[in-house]
Amino acid sequence: MKILDSEFQAWMGGVQARMEAVLGRVLPAASVAPGRLHEAMRYATLEGGKRVRPLLAFAAGEVSGAAPERLEIAAAAVELIHAYSLVHDDLPCMDDDTLRRGKPTVHVEYDEATALLVGDALQSLAFQLIAESPVAENPKVQLEMVKTLALAAGSRGMAGGQQIDLESTGKALSLPELELMHIHKTGALIRAAVLLGFSCGKHSEAEKPLDRYAKCIGLAFQVVDDVLDYDGSTATLGKTAGKDSKQGKPTYVSVLGLARAKEMAEALRGEAHAALAPLGARARRLSELADFIVLRKF
Ligand code: IPE
Ligand code: IPE
Ligand code: MG
Ligand code: MG
Ligand code: MG
Repeated sequence: MKILDSEFQAWMGGVQARMEAVLGRVLPAASVAPGRLHEAMRYATLEGGKRVRPLLAFAAGEVSGAAPERLEIAAAAVELIHAYSLVHDDLPCMDDDTLRRGKPTVHVEYDEATALLVGDALQSLAFQLIAESPVAENPKVQLEMVKTLALAAGSRGMAGGQQIDLESTGKALSLPELELMHIHKTGALIRAAVLLGFSCGKHSEAEKPLDRYAKCIGLAFQVVDDVLDYDGSTATLGKTAGKDSKQGKPTYVSVLGLARAKEMAEALRGEAHAALAPLGARARRLSELADFIVLRKF
């Protein structure tokens, strides 16, 4: 199993450490006013999380030969959007969760209004970063990158997926409806991570295979998240296990059953690998990340 490969683990640890430093640098210090908001933004973003989206951006950057100084900015922008989405996802008006990344959720540790503002401010910071730092050679490409991130986060992407999620709670969804929800709420931002990482480098003919790869692992990521909610433990996940069925959320487990949901994730892993085949050795990290996303236990 590739996720146990120590060389991959070392690469992953390196990117994670680099991201911790970058995020720590771009987030305003808690000593800067308004201190409570800045402290809560740091609480929501730092010291936790697998950093899967940054890892994907760095891996996609290997395909296009992107400089790490650019990749870390694009990766940070995506991770800030992700962190904001988690803070809002946990609010009482959404999933009403009290535990995230092994810590009390932001609204529990601070308060609901602060959690709302943390999300708002993290989202703004993401766009500030990707707009003001040189992430691409060509300003036109950079503008496209801002647009890619905006589309992935907005009503036709993550936020739209979250709306479908809320409207679907307590309902039985068909498989295509469930797929549509997952592609939006989780897949869109994962796809953006891959495309933005790639765009930091020199453009080559890799967009089609990368897009196909990104769609497969974006969906696989949420299928596995559903499986782990059912199959995993609160201690390992760092978030409350078993919440989906309690709250009547339609998931791949509720629609297909555990065994078929796992098969589905496996099939998507195979499809992701197949999509990368034309890219050869440059796509090695992306290939390993497909394994990590499907075989992970947390
Ligand atoms: C959890 O995402 C929320 C989903 C989109 C399924 P992650 O599993 O990437 O959460 P962290 O960042 O590692 O905490
Ligand atoms: C969250 O999906 C998706 C986003 C945050 C956009 P979930 O609600 O399943 O994520 P967890 O399980 O709380 O991390
Ligand atoms: Mg949710
Ligand atoms: Mg949730
Ligand atoms: Mg979940």
